[in-house]
Amino acid sequence: MVKIIDLISEEVVKAFVEAGYDSKYGKVTLSNRPDLCEYQCNGAMAAAKEYHCAPFMIADKVAEKLEGNNMFSEVESVKPGFLNLKLNNDYLADYLNKMQQDEERLGCDKVSNPSTIMVDYGGPNVAKPLHVGHLRSAVIGESVKRLARFMGNTVIGDVHLGDWGLQMGLIITELKLRKPELVYFDEAYNGEYPTEPPFTISELEEIYPTASGKSKENPEYKEAAMQATFELQNGRRGYRALLKHILDVSVSDLKKNYEKLNVSFDLWKGESDAQPYIADMVKKMKDDGFAYLSDGALVVDVKEETDTKEVPPCMILKSDGASLYNTTDLATMVWRMKDYNPSKLIYVVDKRQELYFTQVFRCAKKTGIVPSETDLKFLGFGTMNGKDGKPFKTREGGVMRLEYLLKSINDQMYNKIIENKKNKEDIDFNEDDAKKIAQEVALAAIKYGDLSNQASKDYIFDIDRFISFEGNTGPYILYTIVRIKSILSKYNAENKNARDCASNIMGAHSKSEKDLMLSLIKFNAVMENAYEEVAPHKICAFIYELANAFNSFYHNNKILAEEDEKIKTSYIALLLLTKDVLEKCIDVLGFSAPERM
Ligand code: ARG
Repeated sequence: MVKIIDLISEEVVKAFVEAGYDSKYGKVTLSNRPDLCEYQCNGAMAAAKEYHCAPFMIADKVAEKLEGNNMFSEVESVKPGFLNLKLNNDYLADYLNKMQQDEERLGCDKVSNPSTIMVDYGGPNVAKPLHVGHLRSAVIGESVKRLARFMGNTVIGDVHLGDWGLQMGLIITELKLRKPELVYFDEAYNGEYPTEPPFTISELEEIYPTASGKSKENPEYKEAAMQATFELQNGRRGYRALLKHILDVSVSDLKKNYEKLNVSFDLWKGESDAQPYIADMVKKMKDDGFAYLSDGALVVDVKEETDTKEVPPCMILKSDGASLYNTTDLATMVWRMKDYNPSKLIYVVDKRQELYFTQVFRCAKKTGIVPSETDLKFLGFGTMNGKDGKPFKTREGGVMRLEYLLKSINDQMYNKIIENKKNKEDIDFNEDDAKKIAQEVALAAIKYGDLSNQASKDYIFDIDRFISFEGNTGPYILYTIVRIKSILSKYNAENKNARDCASNIMGAHSKSEKDLMLSLIKFNAVMENAYEEVAPHKICAFIYELANAFNSFYHNNKILAEEDEKIKTSYIALLLLTKDVLEKCIDVLGFSAPERM
């Protein structure tokens, strides 16, 4: 459906033209004085300069042309030259009914030029447990993916595992010390390798930090790890077989953890999958004259004249010929372009990697790995801080495992749900239900707490605030949805079907009802804008406004007790639409609402 703001602008533009002024002055915006009007046009102020007359004279003439227009209930020109507009009640109701008829998309059209978009997010490193530092990429990336998909694009989410660096060599080195008898270390061996991995996930998670600690104290150990990394990268069979085991064990554990976050990836590729493309890529960069040796390392210049800060060359290979983070990122683009040919690649990564991505993106464009028209987007996110304003840590000062964080929030939420239930007779659920509900609400608390901030900003992970049922929180949004669901099920209990009320919305009967309606009609514009700006926080701001509008409508009106059947039907339709819009939004954000809470 055409966005309401565009429909209004269209009418106002027409009026400007009819009154003899240029169409460019007819742009309408949301009112910034909601106490006075709903929409406004400030065009007369600008037009006054061109037409050399007082702005209010222009506004007056335009207002005259809008008289009797059935889109508006009020058109007022106010000094010095504003046009204040209020929407006609029936017109508004009609728009909402049309939204409701479009059950699937609720009036939000798909983009007119759908394309293939790849989202690179998650970015965990294998053999290391997920910690809180991985939370933001997963949460933001998942919603960016869902939003782009909702807008009609083909979207592929890729986890881009960190599985090609020194950490692999460290694990191999430590394993070799502990289990030298394993066939993977026998260079002469040329048979098949066992299918069973020679370690469990908990062993693996212990091996890595041990090895990492040792390498910091012992240069020989580090040297051995580097050598092992080099041999792995150069295709030593036994090491490749070990890598496969490490990947299998890690990935199945990671999948479980991401599932708890309601995060899923279409591709489980990693840095190591880029390896087959490295040699050709490097050769081409050399042949084309882009890559040259500098202090033994192979680099590509990426600085540009307009740079205000220094952008160092992009390093392609280390002096020993080993590949780096850059190398795999570039070679990953090679297969991404070849296999999927996306028109846009979005990287959801810690904003401290911004300079790095500037180098990589420029290098990819310059060397032709990615065509110039492909949109490379770095969505850098800020740090998740504790209440003290410093990066979030455990009480002991260590990095917190994501699993523990989730568990502790689930437990807190469980207590809250049980506490809440005590005060209400009409809620009945058993312990198992309570656990499931707690998980669902806890996830909303975490995700909303993150997503409601602009991604690039640091934010305070304030769990006490996030889990609150009041204020700008995930649980508050869910509580609102649950409230609507409960009214609808009471309505249904009278042997009726709320869905039958759909598209029977009437013009508003009260200010709070109209405010709710005015909020609902923004849905398509909000989604489109959030998509264009890759900004899920805009959806959060919208649903918070919508939830507030609904709750004030709810407190000011009798719904089920409404005696006029037609009005009651209209209310139920409005409730349904509010619920559907809220649920569509939270689905795009990556969480869901329970039936009760
Ligand atoms: N594994 C990386 C890290 O822990 C994040 C990966 C981000 N994605 C990418 N294509 N580089 O920092």
